[in-house]
Amino acid sequence: MLIEADNLHKTYVLKRNKVPVLCGASLHVDAGETVAIIGRSGAGKSTLLHILGGIDRPDDARGSVRIAGQSMYTLSSSARTRMRAERIGFVFQTYHLLNEMDVLENVMLPARAAGASRTATLARAQELLQAVGVSARAHHTPLELSGGEQQRVAIARALINDPAVVLADEPTGNLDTETGATVLRLLFDLTRSRGHALVMVTHNDATAATCDRTLRLHDGLLV
Ligand SMILES: Nc1ncnc2c1ncn2[C@@H]1O[C@H](COP(=O)(O)OP(=O)(O)O)[C@@H](O)[C@H]1O
Ligand SMILES: [Mg+2]
Repeated sequence: MLIEADNLHKTYVLKRNKVPVLCGASLHVDAGETVAIIGRSGAGKSTLLHILGGIDRPDDARGSVRIAGQSMYTLSSSARTRMRAERIGFVFQTYHLLNEMDVLENVMLPARAAGASRTATLARAQELLQAVGVSARAHHTPLELSGGEQQRVAIARALINDPAVVLADEPTGNLDTETGATVLRLLFDLTRSRGHALVMVTHNDATAATCDRTLRLHDGLLV
């Protein structure tokens, strides 16, 4: 089992209100499996993905996330950062590309951060940009790209370290049908051929149907 997330709770405490978002959600994903998460806007899909990816933590010790058997929230924060870099590829809903560097540097960044040399990383970064169809934009800054192009750069960046777990928050939300299908094929092929795991948030029923399983986040639970 690549992802074992159990009994996750998360409540956002605002000035006057408590917003319960996750109320005991659990999710297990096998090697080679692709899972779609659907649910209303505000249901907590992004929150769930952030917790699976070690970006946001569950409220308390009732909940746990294990990635390839390794418990994530009992690690020190530096060990968790290292685990994220090595094992998890994250595609943010809002991309989070760095505008101070060009597209190629953005894609290479996680590999450079993990200690890979520039030469070792360059060819793979170019290959990924080619695969997502934005190689012509390699030396542009993200600000010069359309939303859909930025989204594809974010996907290439998420894949650069060949992560065992890819977490993608509406990765085709800004893509036309044909480009979306190309990007999904890339994600699915990598997941299945390499025995990795893909968890994808989507609003699109047709996209969800292409995954092995679909789970709905509703009232803080996955059903
Ligand atoms: N950092 C935050 N502080 C307070 N409330 C938040 C925060 N992040 C998300 N929320 C609230 O939690 C709920 C779930 O948000 P989110 O996980 O983004 O949902 P989804 O991705 O399903 O649309 C929403 O009501 C949102 O307003
Ligand atoms: Mg969201």
